[in-house]
Amino acid sequence: MVWLGRDVEGVEREPAIVTDVFTRVVFVWTAIGAATFVLLLKVRAPYGRYLRPGWGPTLPHRVGWIAMEIVSPAALVAAWLSGSGGREVWAVLFVVLWLAHYLNRALVFPFVSRWGGRRMPVAIMASAIVFNAVNGGLNGWWFGHIAAPYPDGWATDPRFVIGLSLFVCGATINIRADATLRGLRAPGESGYRIPRGGLYRFVSCPNYLGEIVEWVGFAVLAWSPAAATFAVWTAANLTPRALSHHAWYRETFDDYPEKRRALIPGIL
Ligand SMILES: NC(=O)c1ccc[n+]([C@@H]2O[C@H](COP(=O)([O-])OP(=O)(O)OC[C@H]3O[C@@H](n4cnc5c(N)ncnc54)[C@H](OP(=O)(O)O)[C@@H]3O)[C@@H](O)[C@H]2O)c1
Repeated sequence: MVWLGRDVEGVEREPAIVTDVFTRVVFVWTAIGAATFVLLLKVRAPYGRYLRPGWGPTLPHRVGWIAMEIVSPAALVAAWLSGSGGREVWAVLFVVLWLAHYLNRALVFPFVSRWGGRRMPVAIMASAIVFNAVNGGLNGWWFGHIAAPYPDGWATDPRFVIGLSLFVCGATINIRADATLRGLRAPGESGYRIPRGGLYRFVSCPNYLGEIVEWVGFAVLAWSPAAATFAVWTAANLTPRALSHHAWYRETFDDYPEKRRALIPGIL
């Protein structure tokens, strides 16, 4: 696959070693994502309904959530601005899309979510900070240091059109599905009910499905290996969690809809 490399005439290139190291880091990071997928199939990440003793000290869920999620936009912007590239309209648009997602996730989502008095292990927050720092950093570095300027005609390139459609569709599914879950609890409650309606008719975790589609779309739209590794990581995190949620729903509710799947309608 040919990525947009910084080989455009008139554009100052990073030394080849920088691009080379970047490519190796992305490769290794993707391999770690694949290994994490296997690990998460065996160990349910201990937050939310799977919070359990034995994972060290905890802190209020909301505090941990904000601290870990704000790292992603901060790392992206710092890495982007540390380079001289990525200032043309398309790269700026991609940075803005990343920021829009993460400012919502870090600063809006935790205040509208109904977590009751739930807590989170510090270890979960710390691992998510590393995850977000590396993914935000790699994507910012790509735009600021590695990517060639996206061509003026990028808006009519099939990668842009398909990628943007997937991104918008995925984000819409994710936001709507998270809102449905929110509606299942009154303020202060922390129990669980069966979500119904929308894509919940087909799968237990449309919020995760939407998130994965969103970041696959971003990788296609920005045509970037850093975004591709983030899409892989998102699927590696959320596919095992969707399988766990699905199994948990079936164990917990006798009247859980039989035909509902975990993540992909009719398939998984
Ligand atoms: N890019 C990535 O790798 C990544 C990784 C993780 C999360 N995310 C995104 O972050 C968001 C939150 O993730 P999450 O793992 O916390 O999602 P989740 O387990 O589906 O929970 C989302 C929210 O809904 C509540 N909830 C879930 N099921 C419920 C039910 N049946 N009845 C009542 N309330 C219910 C949860 O409460 P509790 O917390 O009390 O269970 C939580 O507040 C999602 O949009 C997800 O896509 C992205």
